Amino acid sequence: QTIYLKDYRQPNYWIDQTELDVNITPGLTHVKARLKIRPNKSLANEPLVLVGEGLTTHHIAWNGRALGQGDYAIKGDSLTIFLPLSEGWLETEVSFNPEENTSLEGLYRSRTMYCTQCEAQGFRKITWYLDRPDVMSVFSTRIEADKIQCPILLSNGNLIEAGELEGGRHYARWYDPFKKPSYLFALVAGDLACKTGSFTTESGRPVAIEVYVEPKDLDKCDHAIDSLKRAMAWDERTYGLEYDLDRYMIVAVDDFNMGAMENKGLNIFNTSCVLANSKTTTDLGFQRVEAVVAHEYFHNWSGNRVTCRDWFQLSLKEGFTVYRDAQFSADMNSATVKRIEDVNVLRSAQFAEDAGPLAHAVRPASFIEISNFYTLTVYEKGAEIVRMLANLLGVDAFRKATDYYFSTYDGQAVTCDDFVAAMEYACAKDFSQFKRWYSQAGTPEVTVSDHYDADANTYTLSFTQSCRPTPETEHKLPFHIPVAMGLLGDAGSLKLQPKDFALSDDADNTHTVLELTEASQSFVFSNVFEQPVPSLFRGFSAPVNVRFNYSEAQLIQLLKLDSDEFNRWSASQELAVIAVNAALQEPAAFRVSEYWLEALSVIIDQQLIEPAVIAYMLQVPSVSYLHDRSPQHDVLAIYAAREKVVKVLAHSLENQLTTIACCYDANAAYQVDAASIGRRALRNTALLLLAHAGVPSASELALGQFRSANNMTDQLAALKALIVIDESDITAEALDEFYQQWRHEALVVNQWFSLQAAVESEKALTRLEQLTQHPAFQWSNPNKVRALISVFSNQNVTGFHCDSGAGYKWLADVVVKVDKSNPQLAARLVTPLTRWAKYAERGRTMRQELARIAAQPLSKDLFEVTEKALKAS
Ligand code: ARG
Ligand code: ZN
Repeated sequence: QTIYLKDYRQPNYWIDQTELDVNITPGLTHVKARLKIRPNKSLANEPLVLVGEGLTTHHIAWNGRALGQGDYAIKGDSLTIFLPLSEGWLETEVSFNPEENTSLEGLYRSRTMYCTQCEAQGFRKITWYLDRPDVMSVFSTRIEADKIQCPILLSNGNLIEAGELEGGRHYARWYDPFKKPSYLFALVAGDLACKTGSFTTESGRPVAIEVYVEPKDLDKCDHAIDSLKRAMAWDERTYGLEYDLDRYMIVAVDDFNMGAMENKGLNIFNTSCVLANSKTTTDLGFQRVEAVVAHEYFHNWSGNRVTCRDWFQLSLKEGFTVYRDAQFSADMNSATVKRIEDVNVLRSAQFAEDAGPLAHAVRPASFIEISNFYTLTVYEKGAEIVRMLANLLGVDAFRKATDYYFSTYDGQAVTCDDFVAAMEYACAKDFSQFKRWYSQAGTPEVTVSDHYDADANTYTLSFTQSCRPTPETEHKLPFHIPVAMGLLGDAGSLKLQPKDFALSDDADNTHTVLELTEASQSFVFSNVFEQPVPSLFRGFSAPVNVRFNYSEAQLIQLLKLDSDEFNRWSASQELAVIAVNAALQEPAAFRVSEYWLEALSVIIDQQLIEPAVIAYMLQVPSVSYLHDRSPQHDVLAIYAAREKVVKVLAHSLENQLTTIACCYDANAAYQVDAASIGRRALRNTALLLLAHAGVPSASELALGQFRSANNMTDQLAALKALIVIDESDITAEALDEFYQQWRHEALVVNQWFSLQAAVESEKALTRLEQLTQHPAFQWSNPNKVRALISVFSNQNVTGFHCDSGAGYKWLADVVVKVDKSNPQLAARLVTPLTRWAKYAERGRTMRQELARIAAQPLSKDLFEVTEKALKAS
């Protein structure tokens, strides 16, 4: 049953207060709820209908009087109360078994603890409720459990009271003064250790920081605590927003479907997004923890204090919060590197989603299962929309807009339209056309051509935009697209003199932002005395595909001279695409531009660009991105062509790469600042390229680094290089050594799984099969499942797409099996098969496997995904 945005109606009742009493015993949890109900006067008096899932109902009462047979009805997932209700208290008592809850939604058990995940619709697995985000309530929660099994009892807000009870039991009472929707409710009960920290807000409120983990992980909490403090200070500085409770709790859970959850005052995190120390965590891992901790913290305002009216507005909180965390990471580390990473994700994964059968608008018009919409489109493209708005407004107006947004809508559940209205309030612009970014799916394609008139000294840039049909919208209206740009001459940036339009506010005279609003539009610059090279969409100023017919020479000029570092990187990527396409056309005798290689060589020598950016310049784009750029070619051919280009690149830069890779110093102290991370990234990129090139010294270098490394980044990079070199004994031994060394660290074992799932070979599937039998592998743990299955099906090109179709069949079997226990996870795992239409001949086999899945009894989650994917053509 599909739910539509256009059908939104306010609830007919409100719940002003929610009092929960949760009594946990092994195998059975009882929940008593007292709900203060108030009719919504704007709606006629209809019966109250609550939702619940998997609940055994023991008792229902209205204002203390038990309801009789004819007063209510339970049908499927709904409880209807027929009594005419004025203001009063509804009481229910239910029970269920968290131990058997493998969906990891609602209240469930993970290892030594009970915990909750309520977003989006998990609260209904805990009690009967109006489980929708526009119903906001003040929660108080009493938890009772065995004292030995569950010494720690946590919920949202402040601890009011705790004490002992008979029979070895104890209880705690929590009160959260802030109204919130049920999806922000959280409860944790278990045997946990705690690491503390503290922060004082700008206005002087002391905040106790508590990170709860299994005792074995106490040595991995410091980075999360430091990150949280940085995020708190940054949000005060940047948005003027302070924390609002006395305590900020974070709990690390091993079995978790997503990264983390922003429950008010009690965040629950996947261990992979909160635990970190240099021995067990890579640099990327450290940065991920910093980013996710900040993300969940920022939700306290963008999400919790101001929340979403309905789930179609999910990007209101997610897009905005991703934008906020990206700004934070850019400020804490390198802004260019952060931008490159984000754009890589957009181009290689979000664009693919937008081009596939599950394409949906950032504010979708309909859904069957909302869990399927926690997507790159809602999160990352949503963040790009906010980024465009922020750039169109400029720093001061954007701050004025967010101040207005947070103060006007505090304590309310609002919409994306309200957000844009706050933007309009702060500047003189009309964003009605801009809002198409929210309602039209698909990646716009912008084709640019230029004309230089040497007699008139004018230069014309002509843009046309279009966007392919997507499932919800056949015909697209033009988008409002900001094009940050400049012009390069032989000696660098040229001064811009627009002929019949004005430079944007943020412009100096060499940079401006053109605003594209028509299907076709031209801009003329005058007093241009040489044929310029346009630098377009600087910093990736809009999430579009750009088509401009650059010559190699022009790209090399951009790579050498552009004032925008991001576009220098982008030009290098484009040169790599050209090289791969050449290798596809002429596999035996293709040419890689020597000017490109030379330009890279000069950049490495001069080190005028930070090492981390150079590392990214040396990375050839992903197969997925290359496939989107050359859809007519078979994916295995693209893989092979890419490998060839990587080899040529590595060989031609061999001397310089060797110098870089050799400066490994096993005794250097490990630091996680951006500069040290960047140096490691460049060194390890160099090592990996040497391994690809088959340079004889690479093996020794890698083995030495593998054995002596004092941190996970360098050790894992060395192991990766050894896998590429693939001298069977050495590689197998190293893998084994690594496992023996780290077998007690679950998160490191996951890396070990991923590394092997990604090994390209015809035997990849056999190896994968064996790894699922490994004692450390568990089907019930999403991190482990993703480490093997998602990595294999998304990254292992030759293994997954092997000619026999065995990779597809294997994935289909896994998906059906996982769906029985964890539907959310299954609906994610199936993604690669949904992209069948891109794969010509192979696609037919993929589609057959999808159809085989669809023939089984499926969860709502998996049903929606497979059905939409089968409809595609
Ligand atoms: N709100 C969380 C975050 O992005 C993610 C929750 C995901 N829940 C889900 N059912 N998919 O920070
Ligand atoms: Zn979020």
